[in-house]
Amino acid sequence: MTTSAGHQSGHGIDYTERIPNNVDLADDRRLQRALESWQPKFLSWWSQTGPALPTRDVYLRTAVDVGREGWAHFGHVALDEYRWGIFLAERDRERRIAFGTHKGEPVWQKVPGEYRAELRRLIVVQGDTEPASVEQQRNLGATAPSLYDLRNLFQVNVEEGRHLWAMVYLLHAYFGRDGREEAEALLRRNSGSEDSPRILGAFNEETPDWLSFFMFTYFTDRDGKYQLGTLKESAFDPLSRTCEFMLKEEAHHMMVGTTGVDRVVERTAQLMAEHDSDEVAALGAIPLPVVQKYLNFHYSVSLDLFGSETSTNVANYFSAGLKGRWAEERRADDHVLTDDATRVDSVADGTLGQTEVNALLGLNQDLRDAYIADCESGVKRWNKILDSYGVSARLALPHVAFNRHVGAFKDVHVTPAGEVVGADEWERRQGDWLPTPVDKTHVLSLMRPVYERGKIASWVAPPRNGINGKPFEYEYVHLA
Ligand SMILES: [Fe+2]
Ligand SMILES: [Fe+2]
Repeated sequence: MTTSAGHQSGHGIDYTERIPNNVDLADDRRLQRALESWQPKFLSWWSQTGPALPTRDVYLRTAVDVGREGWAHFGHVALDEYRWGIFLAERDRERRIAFGTHKGEPVWQKVPGEYRAELRRLIVVQGDTEPASVEQQRNLGATAPSLYDLRNLFQVNVEEGRHLWAMVYLLHAYFGRDGREEAEALLRRNSGSEDSPRILGAFNEETPDWLSFFMFTYFTDRDGKYQLGTLKESAFDPLSRTCEFMLKEEAHHMMVGTTGVDRVVERTAQLMAEHDSDEVAALGAIPLPVVQKYLNFHYSVSLDLFGSETSTNVANYFSAGLKGRWAEERRADDHVLTDDATRVDSVADGTLGQTEVNALLGLNQDLRDAYIADCESGVKRWNKILDSYGVSARLALPHVAFNRHVGAFKDVHVTPAGEVVGADEWERRQGDWLPTPVDKTHVLSLMRPVYERGKIASWVAPPRNGINGKPFEYEYVHLA
């Protein structure tokens, strides 16, 4: 399958259009014109806040179909000529609402008036995260540890750009004038901006170095996976189908994070074993305690993205059918939950505990628990790598209450081990748990670009596999 002009496969995407799509955009002149007027604004946003490193072309995958087999085409493309488009997973005409008070009814092809504001908000909040990460990662190209990594960075960036397209399509197609205004606002807000920051905290943090990038793609993109998983269950079918396809792309972002941290840990372990010492900083690597501190930071800010442990908003979203649970259809309960109870984390008199609440109110924590279990799998694999080099030190996820700014734990100070401490002790010891200026300076000092084919920076091991069957030495990027 190719992306050449005129190609269109069975359920495929029409690349003859200015905006490649599988939503029959050509048949809806009004929508087409609206999106075509948004497109130049997107491109100007991309050129101002997207990847800063000038390149001639990059070996990228482009979505060319949404079918089960082969949805991606690989080839060298100029970044600003990437074919961002609108791709929804195939429609299942039999699909019915799987949960909430409308359970069993056919899914909606239009937005019900009574849920319009809530659905728009859910789409805007999801949409806001997509361009934010592109902004956060804008300058990383200048310090890429290899051409392979540089290519992966750009792949993540173009796909986050496409995810923005996905949400903007929904806003334009289903929310009329307010939708168009929200689509403009998605390009106006900016990560870390004083006047108009991105909506969620983690998306206003910096991603100044590649260790942060790998931790971000492991922990924060993984939050995205879980949020998309709940929206994929939505009774609003176009949202469900959009998110289902986005999840396919998201898997690569997670691979970049998982194997990125693998490779940092591997390099550190190698040097620890070789020199029989923990002091690897002078050897051009990242000491394990520093890796742990970066992990602590990115994990805790990502946990904040799940919101408060109890939420009436989320209970209402669920009952209305707007947003389901992770793996909703695999759950063995009534999918309505009005009569069920659950336990959520809480703090009473400065002591960590749990409270019983109606299951609907505890859905944020339900999702967060699934996320935490998933995060554990990464820690396990990194510890296996340490073990394979005979290193006895281990990485661990910090306690769920550590360094939290949202929800039950926001007013207590808790160590990574789960011990509640006073403000003074937190102040004194937080440098043991979170990256200090010295740690950050060391990590930044290692960030020197390596653009030579087949070469790699000192602080990270090469990947076990290249992209799309290509070797690590492949010319993944041609710099300008
Ligand atoms: Fe995304
Ligand atoms: Fe992502």
